[in-house]
Amino acid sequence: FTAVDVIRTKRDGGRLSDEQIAWVIDAYTRGVVAEEQMSALAMAIFLRGMDSGEIARWTGAMIDSGERLALHVSRPTVDKHSTGGVGDKITLPLAPLVAACGAAVPQLSGRGLGHTGGTLDKLESIPGWRAALSTSEIVRQLDSVGAVVCAATEGLAPADRKLYALRDVTSTVESIPLIASSIMSKKIAEGASGLVLDVKVGSGAFMKNLDQARALASQLVEIGVAHGVATSALITDMSTPLGSAVGNAVEVAESVEVLRGRGPADVVELTVALAREMLALAGLSDVDPAAVLASGKAYDVWCAMISAQGGDPSAPLPRPRHIEVVKAPSSGVLASLDAYSVGVAAWRLGAGRARKEDPVQAAAGILCLAKPGAPVSAGDPVLELHTDTPEAVPAALAALDGAFTIADEAPEATPLVLETLR
Ligand code: URA
Repeated sequence: FTAVDVIRTKRDGGRLSDEQIAWVIDAYTRGVVAEEQMSALAMAIFLRGMDSGEIARWTGAMIDSGERLALHVSRPTVDKHSTGGVGDKITLPLAPLVAACGAAVPQLSGRGLGHTGGTLDKLESIPGWRAALSTSEIVRQLDSVGAVVCAATEGLAPADRKLYALRDVTSTVESIPLIASSIMSKKIAEGASGLVLDVKVGSGAFMKNLDQARALASQLVEIGVAHGVATSALITDMSTPLGSAVGNAVEVAESVEVLRGRGPADVVELTVALAREMLALAGLSDVDPAAVLASGKAYDVWCAMISAQGGDPSAPLPRPRHIEVVKAPSSGVLASLDAYSVGVAAWRLGAGRARKEDPVQAAAGILCLAKPGAPVSAGDPVLELHTDTPEAVPAALAALDGAFTIADEAPEATPLVLETLR
């Protein structure tokens, strides 16, 4: 094959053969296919699409570019992946909860980029906690604690790492075949036998409408099944932030509240719904995750999981140097609070990064003191902005312009879990 032939096939709307896909991914990983050639191919795929067979092969070739973890543990392994949202800290209470229910959860996670947060950035606000583990440390912790949340190892789907960076700078990210194969190559290589996808829809998500979310969810499930992984997907609302906390340390604090049997109702609801789905895939559907959460066992697993990675679960979390309060301009009911605006504001306060190499502030973020449906009086605090860099406040306030509305009547309650695909 030559890269030019492969690009031409897709450019002209043709189907890539299994052999072409295997060759081009392998050659790109080895540097034989040049970045500019892969750029052209990614754009051709973006414009022409791929059918389900091509997507499954593309994903398989990306898995084969690296190692597939062999998780020899005594419990059934199951993982969750979220397509990303604002205030989405669900992994933090979920992984220990599902482990407390009897499964093993290997969560190889990423860092935040743009307005959505990263699980590792959040956990790194815990003093001493370490994201980088070797494969043998992962397997050992899965056996002893039952849950691991850590950085993806270098050898996992290296083709995707290269291709994702390339897509980022060539405007080829928002393609369902490329997103679905990217997510699933990493998740399948991680080696879990079951996988639940939380596909977010709404202003704070990649997918802005339900049709797009359904298309992505069904593609993700299809790839998983094609590769022998028991896979299902929940489509969940991301039009308003999840819970009250958006940022790093503040999201850890809120997750600990949930693990101690308190915390915001929406975070509890989604954590339990995803746990139920994961347990079903792991063959543990007779265990009730709500009861296990209430028992405190999930909190015990959290403490063990944080300690195993060098963190001190009882250490005080970092506090911001500056807090700015946004007040309600009038009285009524909070009718809406826009996820995207809050996500961008938290990012500008220092919770997120603009470039991969940038540091994040552990204490930066936003507390949403009122959620849609809550009554508010003029002058009540609605949002609390946390930052170590007060000079960032004007940019955050600009992002929050129009982020919430106050009305006379409560908005109609909308479900958090919109659809389930199995
Ligand atoms: N997340 C990924 O891992 N890959 C994508 O392409 C998009 C989101």
